[in-house]
Amino acid sequence: DKNKPENIVWHESSICRCDRQQLLQQKGCVIWITGLSGSGKSTVACALSKALFERGKLTYTLDGDNVRHGLNRDLTFKAEDRTENIRRIGEVAKLFADVGVICIASLISPYRRDRDECRSLLPEGDFVEVFMDVPLSVCESRDPKGLYKLARAGKIKGFTGIDDPYEAPLNCEVVLKHTGDDDSCSPRQMAEHIISYLQNKGYLE
Ligand code: PPS
Repeated sequence: DKNKPENIVWHESSICRCDRQQLLQQKGCVIWITGLSGSGKSTVACALSKALFERGKLTYTLDGDNVRHGLNRDLTFKAEDRTENIRRIGEVAKLFADVGVICIASLISPYRRDRDECRSLLPEGDFVEVFMDVPLSVCESRDPKGLYKLARAGKIKGFTGIDDPYEAPLNCEVVLKHTGDDDSCSPRQMAEHIISYLQNKGYLE
């Protein structure tokens, strides 16, 4: 690994993950929400953090758009920068989970390999990948920021789903399907779906 740090030794802490989680009375994990722009990632992240807060659970949301204003402000949307964006958010999410916080990461994260790398940073079961399974046509018709229109007009190059790839998860923990019909789930119902998963896996005791 060419990026492996040289001459740097890992320093052990005297307080371990389980001590911190005991103090906080909750188990940390990462809820990784992936999907196209306009698929509802941020809306579900918001509904989820609210629903968990009401259950007395501490969460923190890392939203791609927001993190790109600070920590990741140096990154563009070319492939290697997206990979770096995902890597950094994965590392930060891991720190939050280590504290005992339920960290909700909401970013397009279009490449499967990068998401799998983030998964591999965490103990088995602590990475919950949620796929916003919304057809491109629905995302494009919503176009909340007018970006699809710009991408179709060629004014944004390399827009996910238009002229840049999105690799849907093959084996994720939760799939939130939205067909665009009126009877599709509300954000609150989608959040409850994730909460049921967490409950079943013992993360909300
Ligand atoms: S990524 O692919 O995970 O690094 O993207 P992310 O950090 O989630 O940022 C996605 C938001 O940036 C806006 N935007 C673009 N998206 C995709 N492709 C291109 N070229 C692009 N340029 C700007 C867009 O508003 C995304 O917001 P969301 O919340 O996904 O709609």
